[in-house]
Amino acid sequence: MPDGNAAPPAEVRAMFDRISPVYDLMNQLISGFQEPRWRRRAVREARLAPGQSAVDVACGTGKVAASLARAVRPGGRVVGLDFSSRMVDRARRERRSGRGLSFVVGDAMALPFGDAEFDAATIAFGMRNLPDYGRGFSEMTRVVRPGGRVVCLEISRPRSALGRAIQRWFDWIVPVIGRLAGQGDAYAYLVASTRGYPAPDRVAAIMREIGLEDVRWTPLSGGIVTLHAGTKPADWSPPAR
Ligand SMILES: C[S@@+](CC[C@H](N)C(=O)[O-])C[C@H]1O[C@@H](n2cnc3c(N)ncnc32)[C@H](O)[C@@H]1O
Repeated sequence: MPDGNAAPPAEVRAMFDRISPVYDLMNQLISGFQEPRWRRRAVREARLAPGQSAVDVACGTGKVAASLARAVRPGGRVVGLDFSSRMVDRARRERRSGRGLSFVVGDAMALPFGDAEFDAATIAFGMRNLPDYGRGFSEMTRVVRPGGRVVCLEISRPRSALGRAIQRWFDWIVPVIGRLAGQGDAYAYLVASTRGYPAPDRVAAIMREIGLEDVRWTPLSGGIVTLHAGTKPADWSPPAR
């Protein structure tokens, strides 16, 4: 069995379709309004310049994709991809598609893009939902050019005392807020999916195993979120799976 989320993908998709109307507001509350700062760090790690291109995998309502699009203007191209069509609908409505920014429905496990099509690939709070993390990283790496960046921002289980205190609050408050928003099951899933996600050193090992190099990780906000990034080597080929 590969490292991956045990929940059936069809159920995960239906759940994200269902919570799409409240998703952005809930995120701000749950993160204590920290998420814009985390996303900015992720975009910086993509090391993009005007005129370049990027894909944001599991883009949700398109916040990271919109920031990436600002980083590559003028002349650049950014695609946000998500398998929840309702999330993609919201992204198209709220992030002003056009001017090099577009959104598509698609599966992170089989990205509908050619090899080496982008300068960078990002994923924010999406990796822990995938049934096979290695395959997720491998697909992101495949569509990035040699020398391009693969960046993953994800919730993590902190080690510091402060981080663990924040985590206990998170584990308690998230299902409560979820129930108040009428989405109890979905937000119980959110807590469960973070518990099943590997520790940062294991995530880094998965990235190295699929062939990324210069893999680094940075804990943010006491380690409740971790930013991983690596570079695609010139001689990369997809791992046999
Ligand atoms: C927690 S949300 C994160 C959304 C967004 N990246 C953000 O930062 O707010 C996780 C997203 O992953 C998407 N997702 C989960 N599994 C996926 C898959 N196999 N392929 C594409 N998208 C997927 C969900 O539909 C959902 O929009």
